[in-house]
Amino acid sequence: MKLFTSVHDVPNIKQFVNDALTLKANPYAKQDLGKNKTLGLVFMNPSLRTRLSTQKAALNLGMNVMVMNMDKEGWALETQDGVVMNGSTVEHIREAAAVMGQYCDILGLRSFPKLNNRDEDYNEDFFNKFVKYCGVPVVSLESATRHPLQSFADLITIHETWNPLRVGANAKPKVVLAWAPHVKALPQAVPNSFAEWMCKAQQENMLDFTIAQPEGYELSDDFTTGAKIVYDLESALNGADYIYVKNWSSYKEYGKVLTYPDGWMMNNEKLGLTNDAKVMHCLPVRRDLELSSEILDGPNSLVIHEAGNRLWAAQAVLKTMLEKL
Ligand code: CP
Repeated sequence: MKLFTSVHDVPNIKQFVNDALTLKANPYAKQDLGKNKTLGLVFMNPSLRTRLSTQKAALNLGMNVMVMNMDKEGWALETQDGVVMNGSTVEHIREAAAVMGQYCDILGLRSFPKLNNRDEDYNEDFFNKFVKYCGVPVVSLESATRHPLQSFADLITIHETWNPLRVGANAKPKVVLAWAPHVKALPQAVPNSFAEWMCKAQQENMLDFTIAQPEGYELSDDFTTGAKIVYDLESALNGADYIYVKNWSSYKEYGKVLTYPDGWMMNNEKLGLTNDAKVMHCLPVRRDLELSSEILDGPNSLVIHEAGNRLWAAQAVLKTMLEKL
């Protein structure tokens, strides 16, 4: 594996989940693999979980780690070709990425969308240029359109916690991605990526997948093929085993926060409609806006378990890349 940007980079997701759980059971078994190898983590945007879990994953594999907060500590980057750099940008991505590739065996990059121009964001121009010019394997730490380390950790969490005896020995879990309110316009990267991984898992007969959202919040078809799409949260919650709560801004009216009917925040009353569902969120979460405190502090919340599994997702990805260096 030279690139980890989406589920399409993973040949066998069931095997990949098992690899991660093997590492979870024995975190230091592959300490020699990363000896004298360096991981560089480049952040254009803030992070808590992705930064710490990916660092820890690399340390567990015996790697050295360097972190660059490019947005705060690096030179302002130019990404367009053929421009005279007589404005505010100081260094071209061609040189910056290539130089980072000189110091690192593997690089990770976080680069959020600007949410102004859909084509620009969905072309992944910045991310693709970084990959092209750095010359070493790259792990996505969240791009404009996807967050694959998060989605992989989410699938690990569902696989690990699913107890089919609750509803019958051969039953698959019903997983619902449920849109939730927010005060800011958020990217579609997490729900796009979650939908893409869940659609793949559904193809593999691992689960059934539904997306519930108000009118106007449909995600791009590129990520949701195979998902059941509904506009009524209560019908989606009926019989659900996992509720993945997440806000996103509109894809159709790109980057906008549209009006929506009341009643989209998950709380204990709505949880009562489910099959005693486990509740997930990628974090950070705004309490009592996206998701009620009673759920976050209650027995059905998986959010901390899920964040913990970010470590094993990252370690499985880095291990696979190290084996191919
Ligand atoms: N879920 C997630 O990616 O968290 P951070 O933005 O804190 O890394």
